[in-house]
Amino acid sequence: MKYPKEYLDEIKTRLKVSTVVSKTVKLKKKGKEYVGLSPFKTEKTPSFTVNDEKEFYHCFSTSEHGNIFDFVMKTQNLRFGEAVKMLSNLAGMQPYTFSKQDEEREKKWKLYKSICSEFSEFYNNELFKNKNSIIAKNYLKARGLSGVEVKNFNLGFVTEHLDYYEILKKNFDEETIKDSGLFYFDEKKKKFVSRFRNRIIFPINNISGNVIGFGGRIVDENKNVAKYINSPETPFFKKGSNLYNLDKARKLSNRLEDVYLVEGYMDVIGLSKNGIQNTVANLGTALTSKQIQILNQFYNHIIICFDGDQSGYKAALRAAENIIDELKPDKKISFLILENNLDPDNFVNKHGKDKFLEFSNKNSIPIHKFIFEHYLNQTNDNPSSKAIFEKKLRNIASNIKDSFVKKYTLEFFLQKISELTPNINSKFQKNYNTFPKSLAKTKSYYNETKSLKSFEIKEFSFLYILITKPKLIHENFRLIDNVKLYSNENKQLFAEILNQSENLLNLELSNLNVDKTLVNRVMNYASVKHIILKNLNDDQKILEIFNEIIQDLKNYELEQRISELESKFSKDMSETTFNEIKELKKQQKIN
Ligand code: UTP
Ligand code: MN
Repeated sequence: MKYPKEYLDEIKTRLKVSTVVSKTVKLKKKGKEYVGLSPFKTEKTPSFTVNDEKEFYHCFSTSEHGNIFDFVMKTQNLRFGEAVKMLSNLAGMQPYTFSKQDEEREKKWKLYKSICSEFSEFYNNELFKNKNSIIAKNYLKARGLSGVEVKNFNLGFVTEHLDYYEILKKNFDEETIKDSGLFYFDEKKKKFVSRFRNRIIFPINNISGNVIGFGGRIVDENKNVAKYINSPETPFFKKGSNLYNLDKARKLSNRLEDVYLVEGYMDVIGLSKNGIQNTVANLGTALTSKQIQILNQFYNHIIICFDGDQSGYKAALRAAENIIDELKPDKKISFLILENNLDPDNFVNKHGKDKFLEFSNKNSIPIHKFIFEHYLNQTNDNPSSKAIFEKKLRNIASNIKDSFVKKYTLEFFLQKISELTPNINSKFQKNYNTFPKSLAKTKSYYNETKSLKSFEIKEFSFLYILITKPKLIHENFRLIDNVKLYSNENKQLFAEILNQSENLLNLELSNLNVDKTLVNRVMNYASVKHIILKNLNDDQKILEIFNEIIQDLKNYELEQRISELESKFSKDMSETTFNEIKELKKQQKIN
């Protein structure tokens, strides 16, 4: 019994050839292909290649050649049915159970495919040949499309005055035509009429390139009808499991890192015309997790670029919340928000490919940041609103399926939230409580310090102690081994102090070869000033304080490193980065 093609296609969609082969053969990427040692022959130089785009493997030394099913049949000595069972299991699918209905369905699928394809060819031809298509031709021309795009996307025009139904009836029975969803019964005319009358049609292909549905656009904007309509859902056309242009866009995944996911047919065509062919569109419905899973089979980075208007933003947000659960290590989802009500089609036609890519590189934001920023903007400056905000974000993170990604998304949210509650969280605040707030003494000092970074103030304290107690520090010189300062001015002052004073043995401030304001800043803004002055003769106490400051500076260094790694992790989601972060956090605790 034959497995339905869709079922086999689904397995192929979920499993790249390289994924299956690499379970038994070590593969190395080489250009568009992978190479490895042949599993069919003992060899030293690799002659075995895998091409995901063409969905086959080829062994040059044995001429073995085939798809994923052939591969497991041959390497594991299985029959076809067994190979399907094994691979469907690997792909996370239910095993297929055959029935009489399956046979029926397979027959129907064949008819469905052929009726869609005939419909598509017929109206493509009409667009070129029928003189009534002039309105559509002019419309396409006015939108900057030429014969090239019309051919590439097989666009058609459904002329009004043609009874194609009668023509189809010669080859197909009524039920088949009705089930295709391309016609509906007009009660007034008492006959089946085409759903897409007077519309330009955009054939929608499944992943293997078979036409399974259509989108249709009006050419006369004045008519009071929906601008676009799409084929209805049929047993073979499920909008949430397909994407417009996926059959073509997936073929570029060997050369390109990311794929653009846009809202409209015209966005795909406009981008493609401008040289950006790695583009797909969802089909006039909300984006589904399934669509993301399918795209992730081919691309590691999905850039969602919806229209730059309010409805595009809303759709993007809805999409973000629908799909963040699917985020996986090594996969990235970003959002690109266009401005001035432009959609990707308008943008790329106005500014061209390079500007589009440049804008995209600069402005794509990772999904977790997009969500965070959206909810932050929704939050008012009152405790209840902020509480709702935190709950919402925690909830979103907790639904992420992958535990690593879940953890780091939550960590990202909480880190950002902690910045909103500085009095509870800040380490430096803790020190302000320990040390008197000397800097608030005068308003002008206070205002100046507001522009200083907390680590700079910490550095001032460090330098302040060096300057006021040079002998003491000289005697305990190893304390300042490995101390790293961050602000350039303080670094410079620190180096000059050590240099001029022979490691603090004979420090003379007036001899320092630096701008005096650097020294003045230290003397004015060091938050430890008062406590040091109060305990000037208590060396033990001063050393204690000094030590504490050094620890804070070292922690700052770790924090910097951790936050760098975290932003790296949000891009690469790699386990190595994750472990490095874990290690640094451990060190931070020890300190
Ligand atoms: P848009 O209205 O943004 O389409 O709808 P567009 O591509 O910018 O249209 P042009 O440039 O005016 O031709 C985006 C998508 O939403 C669906 C269609 O799938 C469309 O491509 N849509 C839109 C509908 O299903 N029905 C509608 O009435 C409008
Ligand atoms: Mn649009």
